[in-house]
Amino acid sequence: FSWLLSGITLAAKIIQSKVQRAGLNDILGSIDQRNVQGETQQKLDVLANQALLQCLGRRGNVGVMASEENEEPVVVHQDRCHGKYVVVFDPLDGSSNIDVNVSVGTIFAIHRKISAGRHGALEDVLQPGNRLAAAGYIVYGSSTMMVYSAGLGVHGFTLDPGVGEFLLSHENIRIPDEPRYYSANHGNERDWTEGIRRFTRWLQGLEGDAAPTLSHRYVGSMVADFHRNLLRGGVFYYPGDQREANKPYGKMRLMFEAQALGFLASQAGGYASDGIGDILELQPHTLHQRVPLFIGNRDLVEQAEAFIREYDQEWIDAYLPFRRGAVATV
Ligand code: AHG
Ligand code: MN
Ligand code: MN
Repeated sequence: FSWLLSGITLAAKIIQSKVQRAGLNDILGSIDQRNVQGETQQKLDVLANQALLQCLGRRGNVGVMASEENEEPVVVHQDRCHGKYVVVFDPLDGSSNIDVNVSVGTIFAIHRKISAGRHGALEDVLQPGNRLAAAGYIVYGSSTMMVYSAGLGVHGFTLDPGVGEFLLSHENIRIPDEPRYYSANHGNERDWTEGIRRFTRWLQGLEGDAAPTLSHRYVGSMVADFHRNLLRGGVFYYPGDQREANKPYGKMRLMFEAQALGFLASQAGGYASDGIGDILELQPHTLHQRVPLFIGNRDLVEQAEAFIREYDQEWIDAYLPFRRGAVATV
């Protein structure tokens, strides 16, 4: 298992060196084009995906990989070894922030292979979050940090560029009892349901009792927003919307984003929900399935569920077929 993890940290170091040179790569890319080197500049999320696929695909104990960047799972065919682990990842989270020098991240989740065949299959990937063996993320911020849990608490490791290794810097992270921040894209407010609007007003201290009055912070890279809220306390939400009746499920991806961060939240004493119940209990139906996501301090996420129960019955009715897998999200 540590051999597998070292594949992830190796990929993370490769990705962070590319992220750090993102602006320079653009300059070099244009020179390359002028000199007709024949090598076109690749987008950073493609490079990040390749780094992970290559570092993990040769570890021997990885049977299947699934990436946000690939339509289908990648089955690893080994001659001698049986890959008993399944690794699912969002190689680069926060793509819209790459070109503007704002933190981005990598999210990963590790399952055990459950199918009977020699090689891995889709059923190995489509497992609920409560069966995860481990999960984590790397945030490429003012420093590069890996936050990770194998089910015994959440631990943070900071990359020491001088040594070239991740060193334990944050042992046993617990989400603080007193939350400080709420994080959501306010630009989407016109599409929010009544329950989400009231929940937001409650977070601001404008609705109901026992309101927490939080500050608002939104990076637009969920890894960075989640990381800040994990260390300082708070809630991130990307709800479903009411504008498009056929799309009540929001934007976040269950397999590549919500499961891993939900697992970390629960390991740190927090909670993640799709607005109805625990994200980790959801049985995935398709690889790129989307879900509404509320994640952070348990009491804040449960308050969101309560507002939805009270005001959003119409939205619940529209969302349930997607949750059950009767209809696929796009
Ligand atoms: P990705 O870059 O992997 O596609 O994910 C982007 C996600 C998430 O990181 C972020 O929180 C959210 O999209 C931001 O979306 P909006 O720009 O709609 O707020
Ligand atoms: Mn993402
Ligand atoms: Mn991505």
